[in-house]
Amino acid sequence: MSKFYLTTAIDYSNGEPHIGHAYEKIGADAIARYRRLRGDAVHFLIGMDEHGQKVAQAAEQRGLTPQQQVNEIAERFQTMWRTLGISNDEFMRTTEERHKTGVRALIKRIFDNNPDDFYERSYSGWYCVGCESFKQDSEIEAGHCVLHPTLKLEWVEERNWFFRLSKYESFLKRLLSERPEFLQPDSRRNEMLALLDFGLEDISASRSRFTWGVPFPAPLSTGETQTTYVWFEALPNYLTATGFPAKGFKDRWPAQLHVVGKDINRFHSIIWPAMLQAAELPLPERVWVHGFVLLGGERFSKSAGVKLDLNEAIARFGPDAFRYYLLREVPFDTDGNFSWERFEQVYVSELANSWGNLVSRAVAMVEKYCDAVVPAAMRTEVDRADAVELDAYHSAMDGSRGFLLHEGLRRAMASVTRGNEYVQTMQPWVLAKSPDTRTALETTLGTLVRSLARQAVMLFPFVPTKAQDLWRQLGALGRIEDQRFDSLMQLDATGWRVRKGDPMFPKPVTAS
Ligand code: MSP
Repeated sequence: MSKFYLTTAIDYSNGEPHIGHAYEKIGADAIARYRRLRGDAVHFLIGMDEHGQKVAQAAEQRGLTPQQQVNEIAERFQTMWRTLGISNDEFMRTTEERHKTGVRALIKRIFDNNPDDFYERSYSGWYCVGCESFKQDSEIEAGHCVLHPTLKLEWVEERNWFFRLSKYESFLKRLLSERPEFLQPDSRRNEMLALLDFGLEDISASRSRFTWGVPFPAPLSTGETQTTYVWFEALPNYLTATGFPAKGFKDRWPAQLHVVGKDINRFHSIIWPAMLQAAELPLPERVWVHGFVLLGGERFSKSAGVKLDLNEAIARFGPDAFRYYLLREVPFDTDGNFSWERFEQVYVSELANSWGNLVSRAVAMVEKYCDAVVPAAMRTEVDRADAVELDAYHSAMDGSRGFLLHEGLRRAMASVTRGNEYVQTMQPWVLAKSPDTRTALETTLGTLVRSLARQAVMLFPFVPTKAQDLWRQLGALGRIEDQRFDSLMQLDATGWRVRKGDPMFPKPVTAS
């Protein structure tokens, strides 16, 4: 059994969960569920980034202590992840003691192994609280951070601990060129290679005059104790969650996959590997960078008023339909748009009319013509076509060409389309009219149920609750999450007793 330790970015605790957070967790959840169905020993980590200036400011604005703020927000995020069916095995909060211990141990380990990697330096520059990082001139437009044009930049002059990132320039160039699978998609790797060609600057690892964080484990030569810079502390959460520095951490570390958004690529594919190398610890195997969900082609932003109520979007057609729509419409390797109009179109045509309808018809016909018991049926062209689709599904989902979830989804849905065509061609209601065509009727219905069961498994990573519902309606044996892809083509539905349920995807009242 292969181990598959998978993580997402930890979300800032300065506000409510939004569609961008949701998109990333849903995508990573689909990968986690897919891996479990392959039989991997999956460990899926998500969590909250609870320290830093941004969180402290949000608390202050609300008249709360930072701890009150992060407790409340962590609760909201966890409720949201339950609603969306996120199957994380662990939830990390950076205010937890185990995290703080791990961060201190990691920094100490860098001091021990590469003492020159930290040095003291006076620094001045523009700090963006939105990004929680210093900005270079090229990242500033009209006096604002290009990513947070509505926030004010802060001029900061401090003496801090610095991390010698520049030392790792050639190491990182080698890493990205010799292990291209380390960072994907290719476009994201090329961006980082271009950045490396430009040259790396050392980064601040601690902050003064600021206490909401993990104390940096070494005082400055002046005796002042500083706070660990929030990114320098947040990135290690992937490691501290494994129990580091306790012995057993190696059972889980390194991670097989970090899933993050394009705005924080540099932190994960440049700073994080350099930190690990400095500590002489193994690097994660892969970083996958997804794009952004846009609204009307624009990046949404609380401050700029481009927003969407996540609860409203989920309530429209339910959590599974929301997961389906996002993963179908926003390719997991680039940006994509959320639109209410498309959401309804996709829901009605693909989920209600195509898949939902196929399920209701198939179950109703097995009830009507076969006393609800799935008949034995020889293999047909539908099984052969499903086998081809399943191969293509794996090649989109298994990471060999990246994590192309939208493509995997399309492959599974191709089986649905074919199922509908098959029913149209075979016309079981005509076959049912004469005993001479009884075998053809049974072959048709048996084939259909088999194919629907495969669809349930292939679509389980995307729409877990509905897939489970279908599994139940088919009267399939065992639990859907215990199914394994390698035996999916041998699946035999003979003798299952179907049970009609409510329509899986009821038509919306407003739809014509
Ligand atoms: N706290 C840092 C991450 C630290 S990881 C060690 C952070 N938090 S965040 O809340 O701003 O973003 C969390 C994740 O959501 C990031 O991967 C980010 O790219 C993603 N998204 C935020 N907005 C997004 C969209 N509009 N669309 C898709 N994902 C986006 O960064």
